[in-house]
Amino acid sequence: MIADKIIYNLNEIFCPIDLGHPLRGDEMKEAKILKNGYIAIYGNKIYEVGEGDVPEDLVGEETELIERSNHVAMPGLIDCHTHLVYGGSREHEFADKLKGLTYLDILKRGGGILSTQRETQKADFDELYLKSKKLLDHMIFHGVTTVEAKSGYGLDWENEKKQMEVVKSLDENLAIDLVSTFMAAHAIPFEYKENPDDFVDEVLKMIPLVKEENLAEFCDVFCEKGVFTAKQSYKILKEAQKYGLKTRIHADEIESIGGSSVAAELKTTSAEHLMVVTDEDIKKLAEAEVIGNLLPGTTFSLMEDSYAPARKMIDEGMAITLTTDSNPGSCPTANIQFIMQLGALAMKLEPNEIFNAVTINAAYSVDRAKNIGSLDAGKNADIAIFEAKNLDYLLYFFATNLCTEVYKNGTLAVKNRQIVNEDKFFKNNKKDIEQIEKEKKLKTRIPIYLDNLKRRDEEE
Ligand code: NIG
Ligand code: FE
Repeated sequence: MIADKIIYNLNEIFCPIDLGHPLRGDEMKEAKILKNGYIAIYGNKIYEVGEGDVPEDLVGEETELIERSNHVAMPGLIDCHTHLVYGGSREHEFADKLKGLTYLDILKRGGGILSTQRETQKADFDELYLKSKKLLDHMIFHGVTTVEAKSGYGLDWENEKKQMEVVKSLDENLAIDLVSTFMAAHAIPFEYKENPDDFVDEVLKMIPLVKEENLAEFCDVFCEKGVFTAKQSYKILKEAQKYGLKTRIHADEIESIGGSSVAAELKTTSAEHLMVVTDEDIKKLAEAEVIGNLLPGTTFSLMEDSYAPARKMIDEGMAITLTTDSNPGSCPTANIQFIMQLGALAMKLEPNEIFNAVTINAAYSVDRAKNIGSLDAGKNADIAIFEAKNLDYLLYFFATNLCTEVYKNGTLAVKNRQIVNEDKFFKNNKKDIEQIEKEKKLKTRIPIYLDNLKRRDEEE
C-alpha cells in the first residue's frame, strides 16, 4: 500500500514495545531502537516503521517524503499528571519558599492551593480557556501530544465544573488530546477547616454529577497530612469507582500517611508522587499493579532531595511514568523534556526506562494505550521529532527544547518550532469520510513493527 507521508533518514527511532500492559520492572529496559529509520503514515495512523532505505512499494506519486537526518523520533510524549486549568500564579509564595517556608506551611496559612482556588473562582471560562491554551502550546512545543488535566482549584461544584468544561473544550478544539480528571478533593476549603468530613460529603455528592455530565474519566485525591486522610481518600475513591470513574491518588508526597496502601487496596490505576513511599508500600503497589506516576520536577521545585525511589520501584517490579505535575505551586513548568532529564540526572534511570515512562507507560496511565504510546502499525500517528544525533543526546543536553516537529494524528501540529494547522484540529474536522475509509482498510493490517523488520529481513 502507498503511504501518505514518510519521514525518513531519522538517526534513531525509539519504538516502545507494547506488551498489552504497562512495562513493569525489567520490561522497562526493553525497546526497539531503529537506526537510520523511517516512519510511514497512512491517514491518521502509523502504517509501518523500519530501518534503512524506504521500501519502494510504500512510495507513490502523492507520497510526501520528509527527510530528517540529524533528528530522532519517538511516539508523541504523554504528560499523564497535570493541574492544567487555574487562575493566577504564585510567584509571591515562591519568594517565601526561598526564605524557608514549606509547602504545607503556606497551605496551612490559607495560601498555596487555596490562593489558586480564589483566583480560579474569580476567573471566567474564557480567561481560563486562554490561559490553559497557552500552557498547552508550551507542552506541544516540547513534543507532548496527550495531556491528563485535573480539576481541583474550584472546590465547589460550579467552579469544578467550569474547570472540567474548559478541559473538554480544549480537547475538542486543539491538536493535543486531553484526559479529564475530577479532583475536588485537592484541599480542604477554608470554611470547612473545622469540619473537613463535611467537605468529604460535598465531594461525594459531586461524583454522580461528574459521571452524569460526562465531565471526567478519572477521580484523584490529595492524601496528605493536613489535607485528606487515608480514610477520607478511601471513601472518596471507593465512591468514584462505584460510579465507574477510574481512580488515582496523590500519595506519599510529603508525609507517608497511608495513601499508597489505599491505592493498593483499591487497585487504582496509578499512585502519584511517592517521594516518601516505604519499602513495604512499594511491594504492595507492585503486587496490586498500580502504576507509579513520578514527578521529579516537583521535588526539584520544592527544593527537596527526597526524589521518589524510582530505581527501587522498578527493581521491585513496578511500572513507572515520569510526568510534569504542571501546576502553579509545586511545579510551575510545561517542559516534560526537563522532567525526563531529571529522571536521568536525579533518579539515575536508564534512557530506555525514561523514554518508556513518557510514552507507552504514560499511555497506560491515561488508559489510551490501544491508540497511543507506541509506533505500532494502526496506532494514531502521534510523533515527536527532536534535533539530536541520537536518543541519549535528549537526556544529556538539558533544559533546552530540542523538539522541532510534532505530528498529531498524522498532521503536522508543530513545524520548525512553530504551531501550524491549528484550524485542522477542531474535532468535527478530525474524522472526515476519507479518513473513515482509510481506517477501514487499515483494520486488515495490525502487525507490530517487529514484524515489519522481519518483513525486510525476508525480502533481503
Ligand atoms: O501534585 N500536591 C497536590 N497537588 C499539586 C500541587 C498543586 C498546587 O500546589 O497548586 C501537586 O504537587
Ligand atoms: Fe499533582
